[in-house]
Amino acid sequence: MTSQLVNEVKTFFLDTFKVKPLLVFSPGRINIIGEHTDYNEGFVFPAAVNKGIVAAVQKTKNKTTNIFALDLESSIDVDITNIQPAKKGSWENYVLGIVAEIKKRGKKVENFNLVFKGNIPSGAGISSSAAIENAVVFALNELFNFNFTKEEMILISQKAEHNYVGVNCGIMDQYSSMFGIEDHALLLDCRTITSKAYKIDFKSYQFILVNTNVKHSLSDSAYNERRATCEAVSKLLSVKALRDVTIDQLESVKNKIHKENYEKALYVIKEIERTKQACLAIEDNDLGTLGNLLFKSHEGLSKRYKVSCNELDFLVEFAKANPYVLGARMMGGGFGGCTINLIAKDEVKNFTKKVSKAYLEVFGKSCSVYNIKLSQGTHLIE
Ligand code: GLA
Repeated sequence: MTSQLVNEVKTFFLDTFKVKPLLVFSPGRINIIGEHTDYNEGFVFPAAVNKGIVAAVQKTKNKTTNIFALDLESSIDVDITNIQPAKKGSWENYVLGIVAEIKKRGKKVENFNLVFKGNIPSGAGISSSAAIENAVVFALNELFNFNFTKEEMILISQKAEHNYVGVNCGIMDQYSSMFGIEDHALLLDCRTITSKAYKIDFKSYQFILVNTNVKHSLSDSAYNERRATCEAVSKLLSVKALRDVTIDQLESVKNKIHKENYEKALYVIKEIERTKQACLAIEDNDLGTLGNLLFKSHEGLSKRYKVSCNELDFLVEFAKANPYVLGARMMGGGFGGCTINLIAKDEVKNFTKKVSKAYLEVFGKSCSVYNIKLSQGTHLIE
């Protein structure tokens, strides 16, 4: 699958620019648990997957930079030495935002040619955005010998998203896409930005994703609003982030904040705790506990944090009714995208059939089921 993608991007580049490109693969990610906790400096538990973006890049002597987004059959021609954000919601911002951030760090970016294409469905909560950002910053770092560390590169990616894309995202997506390890998930402390790798091998169980095919748009103010709410509650409590708040402390200001905001902060505090518990459950090989934590996470995301939607809630309820599914929850920013399901390997086929039929009946549209493999982070190809 990926090698086909690599060939396609490489061939297109060669045909178009008549010169051999430098090739980079940058993966999307799943998140086992720890949702909307990253910008609260809490814990998350993501992993890079075997779906991602392939980017081909090379220097040019031309006065402009040619960028091709092959998936969208769209391209632009810009003078990279003089850029500004493109229209809100357009793909160009993922690339231009990276260039702008690199320049802010005092580096000179000369014109180049870039072609990229991916096999991550966009808006599915599998982080196609971070995959593009990391692919571009990694490729340019190689091409122009900027000598950025991976730690610096993920901050460049994150800032591109804040300043050009307009989403005040946390660091989970960029981190897991860059630092992913094959067959492992990363318990990431979003305050210190350091992680501990956990081997994920559940023998007769595995994760699958079910995509509602409802496209979320994180740029929608809802994501930024959630973040602002969390920051306002932290400020009221005179702490740096919700990571530092206990449930008792939150109770002490309960009558000073709106009920909805209290519920949101409570969700975050509990989710940070659940994430740590999930790792302990994996250490103990206790998949029943892990599964329950996933269900509880979803309940919090749906009822307290209010970032779910009918389709996601339906998929989680449907999973709950199946004894071979130990846990399920929405994944990523929310309002659409995928659920992640912890399911018996033997049941995958049957569940896929049943959930597809039921979803179609209820919503009059199809869901998609993905098998994923936990994979290596952003890297050079060849
Ligand atoms: C998006 C953001 C991440 C994180 C998740 C929710 O994927 O990019 O930083 O906040 O939503 O957990």
